[in-house]
Amino acid sequence: MDSNELQKIEKTAKNEVSGAKNLDELNDLRIKFLGRERGALTLVLRNLKNLPQEERKIIGKNANHLKILTEELFEKRGEELKKTEFDSILKKEWLDVTRPGAKIERGSLHPITLVRCEVEKIFSSMGFGVVEGPEVETEWYNFDALNIPKDHPARDLWDTFWLKPAQTGADGTRKVAENFLRNSASSLRSSALLLRTHTSPVQIRYMQSHNPPIRIIAPGRVYRYEATDAGHDIQFHHVEGLMIDKHISIANFKAVILELFKKLFGKEVKIRLRPSYFPFVEPGFEVDLSCIVCNAKGCPVCKKTGWSEIMGAGMVHPKVFEAVGYIPRNQQGFAFGIGLDRITMMKYKIPDIRLFHSGDLRFLKQF
Ligand code: DAH
Repeated sequence: MDSNELQKIEKTAKNEVSGAKNLDELNDLRIKFLGRERGALTLVLRNLKNLPQEERKIIGKNANHLKILTEELFEKRGEELKKTEFDSILKKEWLDVTRPGAKIERGSLHPITLVRCEVEKIFSSMGFGVVEGPEVETEWYNFDALNIPKDHPARDLWDTFWLKPAQTGADGTRKVAENFLRNSASSLRSSALLLRTHTSPVQIRYMQSHNPPIRIIAPGRVYRYEATDAGHDIQFHHVEGLMIDKHISIANFKAVILELFKKLFGKEVKIRLRPSYFPFVEPGFEVDLSCIVCNAKGCPVCKKTGWSEIMGAGMVHPKVFEAVGYIPRNQQGFAFGIGLDRITMMKYKIPDIRLFHSGDLRFLKQF
């Protein structure tokens, strides 16, 4: 052991400590130079006792001095490394508290739902209740009770999805639903099942269980077995309406419907009644609405006529009153069926009815 060796230790310690890249490396170096068992300096100090006294004094002093120096080196480098590590954590975990939050994706209501809600609100404000009926109906409710007997040519107006009778032992829920539907028709009535072609059967169900005065709407899905195009789909939506009392007239109907469209489209509109045929009303008419796209000036949507056909309506037929057990003479009133898809298309200028069930998010996100 001589001073040279100490100088060597000092030099390598200085070099290596200042070159330590992180606290782990620094710790390894601390063990290498100052470790209690085998640290280079520790060994020097431990071996002092083997040196002759003179040498021991000098080397001992120098070694102790070097120990203090080395400890300072470690201290200093440790501080530096801690700071750089802290800085890099700061950089990595940097957070801009002024940055706007990430937007949570939110769904939106379907345009049909939007218009349906609006229609319900408007009718509610005029004292109408909102009721519903089943989408799987019996032939009697969908046709016979509405004065559309079997073999009557008028049936051709409604292209129907007929449902196969359930097989024996079929699943319980289906049985319960069928029994519910069939029990509500008497044994003389046809209980053949179908997907309702319009919401008019809800009129029948409601009148069977309520007496006049009646003021209801019945919105819902309806089905037709027909080819699709921009204006037709196999499933769409109707809003049925029914107002019955002692003296309800077509004048009442016109007032109610004008109020609906004025509120729905937010501007003055005109309506026009054209005579038409529906077996469950007499007289029956079709209602045209002045085209809201071009303000009745004439455009492709209204086929340059200024008018758009929007609903069927009429005064409830005595045969319908009979079917539900009313005495026909005792009351009168109007019924109507609005194409919900059609007015939604008009309101939002949607060119193709098939978009409604396309599931296309680019379409749906616009509402
Ligand atoms: N149910 C008819 C249809 O499917 C629409 C309709 C017309 C409903 C006249 C009515 C009405 O209540 O009185 O086209």
